[in-house]
Amino acid sequence: MLKKLLVDVHTHVYLPRYADLLRSRATVPRIIPAATGSTDSKPSERLLILDHEPSGGRPVGPQYWSRDEKLGFMDKHGIDVSIVSSANPWLDFLPAPDASDIATKLNDDLEEYCSSSPAISEQSIKRLYGFGMLPLVPGISTSALLESVRQISVLPHLKGLIMGTKGVGKGLDDEALDPVWEAIEKEKLVVFLHPHYGVDNNAWGEKENGHVLPLALGFPFETTVATTRLILAGVLDKFPDLRLLLAHSGGALTQLSSRLASCIHHDPLVASRLKHDARYYIGRLYYDAVSYGSEELQFVADTIGRSGKYHSSSVDAGHTLPGSQRMMFGTDHPFFPPLNGEVKWRSVVENLEAIQGVSGWSQEQKDSVKGGNALQLFNLVQ
Ligand code: URA
Ligand code: ZN
Repeated sequence: MLKKLLVDVHTHVYLPRYADLLRSRATVPRIIPAATGSTDSKPSERLLILDHEPSGGRPVGPQYWSRDEKLGFMDKHGIDVSIVSSANPWLDFLPAPDASDIATKLNDDLEEYCSSSPAISEQSIKRLYGFGMLPLVPGISTSALLESVRQISVLPHLKGLIMGTKGVGKGLDDEALDPVWEAIEKEKLVVFLHPHYGVDNNAWGEKENGHVLPLALGFPFETTVATTRLILAGVLDKFPDLRLLLAHSGGALTQLSSRLASCIHHDPLVASRLKHDARYYIGRLYYDAVSYGSEELQFVADTIGRSGKYHSSSVDAGHTLPGSQRMMFGTDHPFFPPLNGEVKWRSVVENLEAIQGVSGWSQEQKDSVKGGNALQLFNLVQ
């Protein structure tokens, strides 16, 4: 019998070309040399991508760009396959022609990074696959975006694309994106929706809390808002086979889904626009299992698993699956590294233990969340 594989669907890289771009910049996002006199033996550079980075940026080193480091991290944690995505903020800060040019090059770089990775012995699966990226910036032409979707669709080791929440400047509910959704749906690419901006920093008050509030709350809430807007715009009605994978288990989307449905019901402007109850759409999405707790995973699975009840036709429940079949292990590597020299990363161990500890899941369901579901979604099963 073939070994059950552990597959990481949420793992990032700053490809060397992108890291060089960040080094060449005078404003955030950028990579800067560590201050002289720094006591760090390594790394010797700092990454500034978010507002108010603590103490001149986060330490950044080869774990952010080296493929050997990625494979070493995978080996250390028993991860067989990773679907690697570029980390935030992607190309959001570039003018359209530059974004288009570098997206093409980075997609080729990522294909090479994956295609030249080792294969898993006895199985014809590689250890690395990737999410490409589109030059989603204001002023970009639809044809440039469609060309980028086409490029990703023909690169054999790219199985989807990572996307932030800004679209081409007006968010993911912008009708200008309709041809892009259509092409992505047609090419059967998976969209990995990932946050970067959080919410308005004024929400965090004046106390110094490091990155805790923007990362723990701002990031997932950004995903919650972006996905809700996309649903409200009818994108999932227009493109029913579009496959969206939400970072951080979709943030607060599941917890707020019945409240959202109720607010829509009481607002005829929006209610008349949608074919189904909002809870149906929420159960049509895919979710990483990066929420660090068994109870949260169980809750997300139970909430999305009831989706069929909310399809407008009681006969055809549409694309419903048991909730756990829409969830997939992830690590968020190389973010959240160990602080005290531990060999195994706490962020990885916690997410694995969370899956293993879900009391309502059979071992088969847990194994599917750890790997089987991703192999299906990314069409890696033989
Ligand atoms: N911090 C980031 O900037 N990005 C992530 O994906 C995780 C943490
Ligand atoms: Zn991430």
